[in-house]
Amino acid sequence: MTCQMTCQMTCAIADPGSHSVLPSIIGTGSGDPYPLYEWLRAQRPLWRDASGVWLASSHALVTRILDDARFSARPPPGAQPLDDPLGYTNMVVFETGEAHERLRRLLAPLFSRKALLSLQAFIDGEVARLLDQCEALPRFDLVAHIASVLPVRTICRLLGFPDAHGASYLQASTGAWQLISGAPMSAEERTLAAVQTETFIGNVDAFLREVDPDAAPDQAASRFLRLEQEGGIGRREMLVNVLFLFIAGYGTTLLSIGNSIAALLRAPHAWQALVDDTSLVSQAVRELYRYDPAVQSVFRYAWDDVEIDGCRIRRGESVMPLIGAANRDPTVFAAPDEIRFEREAARALTFGAGPHSCMGVALARMQLESLLRALLRRMPELRLAPGWQPRQQHGSFHGYDRLIVER
Ligand code: HEM
Repeated sequence: MTCQMTCQMTCAIADPGSHSVLPSIIGTGSGDPYPLYEWLRAQRPLWRDASGVWLASSHALVTRILDDARFSARPPPGAQPLDDPLGYTNMVVFETGEAHERLRRLLAPLFSRKALLSLQAFIDGEVARLLDQCEALPRFDLVAHIASVLPVRTICRLLGFPDAHGASYLQASTGAWQLISGAPMSAEERTLAAVQTETFIGNVDAFLREVDPDAAPDQAASRFLRLEQEGGIGRREMLVNVLFLFIAGYGTTLLSIGNSIAALLRAPHAWQALVDDTSLVSQAVRELYRYDPAVQSVFRYAWDDVEIDGCRIRRGESVMPLIGAANRDPTVFAAPDEIRFEREAARALTFGAGPHSCMGVALARMQLESLLRALLRRMPELRLAPGWQPRQQHGSFHGYDRLIVER
């Protein structure tokens, strides 16, 4: 009882009648989220929104929650489970404990140094090919021509999959994510998302049926099939985790490319600094990922009662670590609203932290670095075209649907 009273005194629990800020954080539209994060941090870095969801907006709290195994993307046993008739919550990001470790071990060889190094020439070649197509155009949409193509071709290459179904991959990954995350959808949208997702899964399944696991043993598809034969993974679990690699690596990289290039072009001095000295590209990419991350927030459920910052988060309650807010926390990043290549951006939480931290971080960096180097070399005069549209929010992701640039 004492504890409860203390909690009520010290926590900024929003007046139930007051307005929820959640729709501004995971809604749709073109708002700039950063002023809201600043406001939240000033109120209280662990804030109970009127919707009941806890919002964590400081770097320390976001790190702490992501690191704490008592928080999971899946509701705790006994609580209302996620609506998941198709088994999507067998994706690595929803698993906990031993099941999670097993899936990470299974996926890890895809992201080994050797595997990634072997992709460098492919990525550079794709970037060159895409820029060849844009070079003749006085203006072009960087998202449609480059950012939406490079990541899907890269993931297909990583997995050894044909990219014949390329256009359907984004639809499927977006649809699946909407289904799982419980985003508001009409019945028609729900049906369409399920059809697109299952079509994708069907395509991958059909492809795997044609693969001889012994023909190219190093290929990801062969490795998955051998694991299945050994009983290490079931077919459906394998398929939903392949789907997850597209969810995790496609939309995120697409939006990150747009966010990063737009941020640079909006700060012409930063762009010019890179034109003048391309040896800064690597650290610029780290800073650009910090500055405007595509994944603005993630979602967790408490599996236990947890005391944090004088607040008690009860078992089953949900928490949103706000990555976008943590990356602009002035106690960690001086002048966080400025792009500064020289800063120590390694502490940014763009790729999460703790047990579920991103497995594809190096791959994402490789793509942006390769593109940026080529753009600086081939199109040093690049700028945003007049009338370019602000970025859009899609649930917890944000980025540009279109980014018209000219030279
Ligand atoms: C700039 C692009 C990317 C961003 C911003 C990003 C961001 C993230 C974040 C924030 C998480 C943590 C999710 C959570 O804690 O709930 C995550 C997890 C993950 N990411 Fe990425 N990611 C990117 C690219 C990629 C790529 C290219 C791949 C692979 C093709 C990938 C694979 C994964 C996987 C497998 C996980 C789940 C790890 C686990 O649950 O143990 N990501 N990513």
